[in-house]
Amino acid sequence: MSFRLAVLISGKGSNLRAIQEAIERGTCAGSIVAVISDRASAQGLTFAAEHGLPSSVVSVRDYPDRSAWDAALAAKVADFMPDLVVLAGFMRVVGAAFLDRFAHRVINVHPALLPLFPGTNGPEQALAAGVRVTGCTVHVVDAGVDTGPIIAQAVVRVLPDDTNDTLHERIQHAEHQLFPRVVDAIARGVVTLGAQVRMSGASDDGTILFAPLFRDGPT
Ligand code: GAR
Repeated sequence: MSFRLAVLISGKGSNLRAIQEAIERGTCAGSIVAVISDRASAQGLTFAAEHGLPSSVVSVRDYPDRSAWDAALAAKVADFMPDLVVLAGFMRVVGAAFLDRFAHRVINVHPALLPLFPGTNGPEQALAAGVRVTGCTVHVVDAGVDTGPIIAQAVVRVLPDDTNDTLHERIQHAEHQLFPRVVDAIARGVVTLGAQVRMSGASDDGTILFAPLFRDGPT
């Protein structure tokens, strides 16, 4: 039976697209059974509709408080019985009810080499810090903000004339390569999520967990 993915988005959905395209190419195991957004205006919902992916919106504004929204979000995601919940540009912190329900089954992509530069503006923080390399991280989600166990990272150079936008664009290029690979590795059981992240011995050659090799593109 196919490994079921629920993908949560807030905006453009380029990582959703990268995962779906990898699935369609046959390079990512599993299938997206739901796309869920906290914003009805998220562009990624259009991509979902075009690709026949079921979608839903669970907006904070429709609930009296954050914990009611969190419980409603968890219930909506659970309806789709996912094996893995993929936060792909989901710009809200999921709460305790959600994490309890999907313990060790929620992953996130972040546009920096965690634990550096957590939060909403990873590329901007990297530029302000003057680092020469930054990148992206895929990690297990825990109760903190971008603090859970790291699964994989890819390195991206910071160029002298970078702006937030140019740097974020190159980081996203790396995300689009790394994230589907990580989802595939989890779906195939090469990577196992728990209190710690484990790789099956034969695959522990570093090529999935750490990828400094991606070209800077797009050119
Ligand atoms: C991605 O770059 C992701 O790393 C970032 O939002 C972007 C969403 O892009 N997430 C965070 O900053 C979370 N802290 P997308 O909607 O095109 O996939």
